[in-house]
Amino acid sequence: MDNKDFDSQRPRKKASRETIRKRQLIALCVIALLVLILILLIAKACSAGTTGGKKKNEVTTTTTITATTTTSFETTTAVTTTEASTEPANTSDFKLDKYSFDLKVGDTDMPMVQDYPEGSGEWNEQWSSSDENIATVDEWGNIKAIAEGTCFIILRDGGDPSQEVQIKVTVSGEDSTQPTTTTDNTGATEPQSAEAAEAPAPSRINVPEAHYEGDTLIVNKSFALPATYDPKDLDPTCKDWFYKLASGAAKDGVNIYLSSGYRSYDYQNTIYNNYVNEYGTDTADTFSARPGHSEHQTGLAIDVNTIDDSFAGTPEAIWLAEHCWEYGFIIRYPQGKQAITGYKYEPWHIRYVGSAISKKIHEMGDDTTLEELYGLTSQYE
Ligand code: DAL
Ligand code: ZN
Repeated sequence: MDNKDFDSQRPRKKASRETIRKRQLIALCVIALLVLILILLIAKACSAGTTGGKKKNEVTTTTTITATTTTSFETTTAVTTTEASTEPANTSDFKLDKYSFDLKVGDTDMPMVQDYPEGSGEWNEQWSSSDENIATVDEWGNIKAIAEGTCFIILRDGGDPSQEVQIKVTVSGEDSTQPTTTTDNTGATEPQSAEAAEAPAPSRINVPEAHYEGDTLIVNKSFALPATYDPKDLDPTCKDWFYKLASGAAKDGVNIYLSSGYRSYDYQNTIYNNYVNEYGTDTADTFSARPGHSEHQTGLAIDVNTIDDSFAGTPEAIWLAEHCWEYGFIIRYPQGKQAITGYKYEPWHIRYVGSAISKKIHEMGDDTTLEELYGLTSQYE
């Protein structure tokens, strides 16, 4: 007989009711304790999870910012294939946490600079505003919203001014003191601000080979710049007035951004030769300037938004054609003028000439060319 059999044969002692109740109570207490411990463990796990989650989110946010920056950069370099960005383009090595701000009048805010161009840093920051009537910025990057409207805050690197990033600031909440576009009883559109009527002529360049008509530097198929002329960047007046133009466009709900500005002789040489290899000389010459013959080398020409035929007819192209003269720019290669300029229609290519000339061209008809204004040819020898 094993123990089990032995045990089964032992007479059982019947537990009293009180003992049973005690046992039930103890069991309940143990269960309650276990439940409590379980709740505590779950709570602890949740709190650890939340902390971890937040960190994860922060990392994700950083990744998103980096991705946005990269996209902007790609937009500006692969301009022939990408759609218009809704954010200002960042073609520099600056990386910010934010590239646009929506502020109310009186608000202050500032972007955080997360990365600088190589060898640079906080000490080289140069901040400016495209329109101090809308938002100001101090030397540390503190932005203050002044009046309703849209403008750009520009961060430049003092050591290398070609390194710059635009920050779009949209201010709402109070009646703007800015004059806006008005239409007089003749139906003519007036400039958006008194200031916009006074874009100065660009400074003359000190190059003996440069061909001037009055204050206007002429670069076309007939007139070239030497390879040695290398301003390295856009002309500062041209750049400032471009930002005013972009602000004016933004006020009208139109996004105009810089896609290609200054191009050196060597860079133009590369671009042109690539096109020649792809399309042959005759075709390349209809849309790409030979080195020395590109207005981009002057630092006075800017290609905006999408640099291909898909830009034509867009709200941005229409706005640009109607308003660029108000900021001292002209559409340099208008439609139907290929025989005169030597180039196909380029609705994205604007040339800074200053208000005196842009107004004159506007009055003669916005599709008037510099060649027509000055009686010039544009032909390779
Ligand atoms: N696309 C213009 C003509 C240039 O290459 O400068
Ligand atoms: Zn161009």
